[in-house]
Formats: sequence, structure tokens, C-alpha cells
Amino acid sequence: MKFTLIPFLLGLAASSPTEKRQTSGQYTMGFIGCSMAENVAQGYVANKGKHMWGPYGTGGLVVQSWTSPSSSSWGMFDKQVAKYGKPTEVWVMICIFQNPGATYDEVKQMIAAARQHAAPGAKIYITGQPIYPDNPTSCFLAGPQGPQMTVDLAKKAGADASLNVTYPGDFKLMKGEVQDGCHANTAGQSSLGKQALAFWG
Ligand SMILES: *[C@@H]1O[C@H](CO)[C@@H](O)[C@H](O)[C@H]1NC(C)=O
Repeated sequence: MKFTLIPFLLGLAASSPTEKRQTSGQYTMGFIGCSMAENVAQGYVANKGKHMWGPYGTGGLVVQSWTSPSSSSWGMFDKQVAKYGKPTEVWVMICIFQNPGATYDEVKQMIAAARQHAAPGAKIYITGQPIYPDNPTSCFLAGPQGPQMTVDLAKKAGADASLNVTYPGDFKLMKGEVQDGCHANTAGQSSLGKQALAFWG
């Protein structure tokens, strides 16, 4: 009797923070990125995530779209802020086109801009775009080494104490989850959404 309780308690500990998050902090987490971030947001919403914003039309918005805090991309972000308030958490996805790629300086500018548009003291998460573990060169838009390069930039930022940002892990898309080499199909979106739920609830 004593022992059968243990798995039950472990189960509670593993599942309750995520579920609670969906009702206690609705839409308090913003995000920036490209269509790949949108794929995550689509799957997040499909899997009943409510803590982070849903998709808001970020297709094509790679790093250089977010380096200037007054860009039209940030204008779109601010429309979300007008709806939900300044986010207390922001997820930054580093997305690139093969040319020009992105530099670490640009990533730092993007993080600084995120701080300007978020609530004071907001927690910032940073990730690369998804990687393709069983087909690493799959994403023609980012180039054969591109996705891993964005992950490396995100890890570097997470390890840089002066930036105060958190790298939660890689997003992964497997072969059957991709529709055009880069973007997630419906199964891939769902998988990405579950990965986001596992990272930040
Ligand atoms: C670092 O970020 C956290 C939120 O993740 C914030 O509470 C804290 O004040 C920040 N620290 C500094 C030194 O800015």
C-alpha cells in the first residue's frame, strides 16, 4: 500500500505545474521568431497551451527583422502587447536564411530589443530554430549547417551571464514531421508544441 502511492505522487509532481500554468498565467509569455516559431505556437495552441501567445503572423521574420526595436516586426509584437499586456516572459527563436545567416552581435541586439518590449525584469528564453536529427541538412532556407548554427548561437547566449537569458533545449523535427524540408506538417507542429509545453508549460 505504502509503495503504490509513490508513482501516484511522482505523477502529480510531473504533471501539475504545466497544467496549472495554462490557467494561472494566460498569455503572459510572448515570443519572436519566424515561421518556425509560428509552427511551435500552432502546435502549442493545438495541445491546449495558453500560457504563451498563439501564432501572430511571424513568417519570414529572421534575426535581422528583430534587431531594431522599432522595426515593423516589433510593431506586430506590440499589437499583441496591446491585447495581452507586456509579457513577463519572452521566448526568442533565432531564425536565419542561409544568406546572411546571423552574427552573435545581432542576437544580442535582438535580446536587448526583447527586453525593451517586455515587462521590466522579464525572463527571456532563447532557442535556435528546430534541428532535424535524422536529416540534419534538410532545411534549404537556413542552409545545410544553418539550424545547428542557430542552436549554437542560442547556447552561447544562454551561457553568457551578462545576457541573463535561458536556453531550455533544442526543438527537434523528425523526417515524417516535415512538409517541405524546413516547416512542420501537422504532426510536426504538434510535436513542437509538446516540446514547448515541456520547456515552459
Ligand atoms: C535576470 O532575469 C531574471 C528573470 O529571469 C530577473 O528576475 C533578474 O532580475 C535578472 N537579473 C539581472 C541582474 O538583471
